[in-house]
Amino acid sequence: AAVVEHTFNVQNLTVTRLCNRQLIVAVNGSFPGPRIRVREGDTLIVHVYNKSPYNLTVHWHGVFQKLSCWADGPNMITQCPMLPGNKYTYKFKISGQEGTLWWHAHVSWLRATVHGALIIRPKSGHKYPFPKPHREVTIILGEWWNANVMDVEDEAVTSGGLPNISDAFTINGWPGDLYPCSQNHMYKLKVEPGKTYLLRIVNTALNGQLFYKIANHNLTVVAVDAAYTKPYVTNIIMIAPGQTVDALLVADQDIGSYYMAASPYSTSVGIPYDNTTTRGVVVYDGAPPIATPLMPTLPAFNDTATAYKFSSSLNGLKDGPHWAQVPKNVDYKMFVTVGLGFTPCEANRTCLGPKGTKLSASMNNQSFVPPKRMSLLQAFYSNVDGIYTTDFPAKPPIEFDYTNATINNYNPAFLFAPKVTKVTKLKFNSTVEMMLQNTAIIGVENHPMHLHGSNFHVLAQGFGNYNPSKHREMFNLVDPQIRNTIGVPAGGWAVIRFTADNPGVWIMHCHLDSHLTYGLGTVFMVENGPTPETTLPLPPVDLPNC
Ligand code: C2O
Repeated sequence: AAVVEHTFNVQNLTVTRLCNRQLIVAVNGSFPGPRIRVREGDTLIVHVYNKSPYNLTVHWHGVFQKLSCWADGPNMITQCPMLPGNKYTYKFKISGQEGTLWWHAHVSWLRATVHGALIIRPKSGHKYPFPKPHREVTIILGEWWNANVMDVEDEAVTSGGLPNISDAFTINGWPGDLYPCSQNHMYKLKVEPGKTYLLRIVNTALNGQLFYKIANHNLTVVAVDAAYTKPYVTNIIMIAPGQTVDALLVADQDIGSYYMAASPYSTSVGIPYDNTTTRGVVVYDGAPPIATPLMPTLPAFNDTATAYKFSSSLNGLKDGPHWAQVPKNVDYKMFVTVGLGFTPCEANRTCLGPKGTKLSASMNNQSFVPPKRMSLLQAFYSNVDGIYTTDFPAKPPIEFDYTNATINNYNPAFLFAPKVTKVTKLKFNSTVEMMLQNTAIIGVENHPMHLHGSNFHVLAQGFGNYNPSKHREMFNLVDPQIRNTIGVPAGGWAVIRFTADNPGVWIMHCHLDSHLTYGLGTVFMVENGPTPETTLPLPPVDLPNC
């Protein structure tokens, strides 16, 4: 195994998009940021220099971080931020996983522009569990604002309302030719007829869930979230922020040009969304240069049936590399509601929610606030009192029921969530089953829930109220998909299981950044195991202090 070393210079960069010059924070002068390639088993070292005007942390999304929780990166969860002018070196081993992951800033809304792909190939001498592609191609889907995203976030937080929607979706940083001033910079993928390409697709958008399609071509999904899947042939992909999809594209159509396009999936009546389509183009060798590419037909923005069909049709590649069995026994069972609500607004403030309230978001009606004085991991590791409490409830305050209007409509038990720093402590190697129920109190919206520090199995998903006696029979305990980010269906639920075998402090949160800002998150604290090999080592000496 090798040691792969990178330097990230994080600083302001002026880029032009949509006829507009915009100052963004970017890594090494590029947007999207640099792609990192490692092999399974390698050690990755990244020296991060924060030359930006903002506080910074970097998260390695989906990397297990076995015994290296200090390198995970979420602000005030595992570390204090690097202040402007400071540096920190992330060092960790990547093992037990292969496929496409990514890295991104994990503080405020910086990840809008501070992100890039992290590609894990098999150890040398090991093969993919699918035919070797002719070439590998990274497709980064993103979201673009004609404004400083930090200001967009500040305005939303100050007003207590929803953030302004983005001005464009992007493919590899480019909005594509449906947007003004964007005709000449569309992402172009050149293919040779008959050859196979591995598309490594990442949704880095802050708040936009996306459909992705290539005209006339099927895609064969072979992995999601860096976990291999049973090959699944589809003509459309639904990908939520945080998720990745590895899919094979065979250039098996007539020589010509074909658009690839991404458009939003959004179901929330009354919540504004960016209703635009970004596109790039797949050009066959020998295609006539001036022909108009064929355009795929994209689903309607609220086509939940199509979104759900994609998300629920995937299965894990049992017996494939790094396959993990579903934990059989469950030590800790949780029923967790996820959703948005409101909190009363402080006096003398204009708040844009209904009746002058402020938006908030919660899990089991607990709206998560990170600590201010020191990171949770530091507090956990050094046994410091008063930073967090360990009473995150395993059930919602009252039983959730869609069919009961007094619960579904503005019930204070779900609507007004207290701001807390409550965590769940887990014994080393204990197993957790979480039933995630989407409350849809305001806005029936898919919530992409992301767990740090380990993958989970997705046992079942569905719509309406989760009903244990009925839905347990649906559990796939044999070859469920393995993920780090699951879209809890709009108006529905999902059941996941994982093993807490990685000592440290791990946040779980909605990967729509606006929801995380409003408190849609919780934290697991996994205790050390009995041996030195199962004990979290000392913090690195250069770990930023608060
Ligand atoms: Cu991709 Cu907590 O993040």
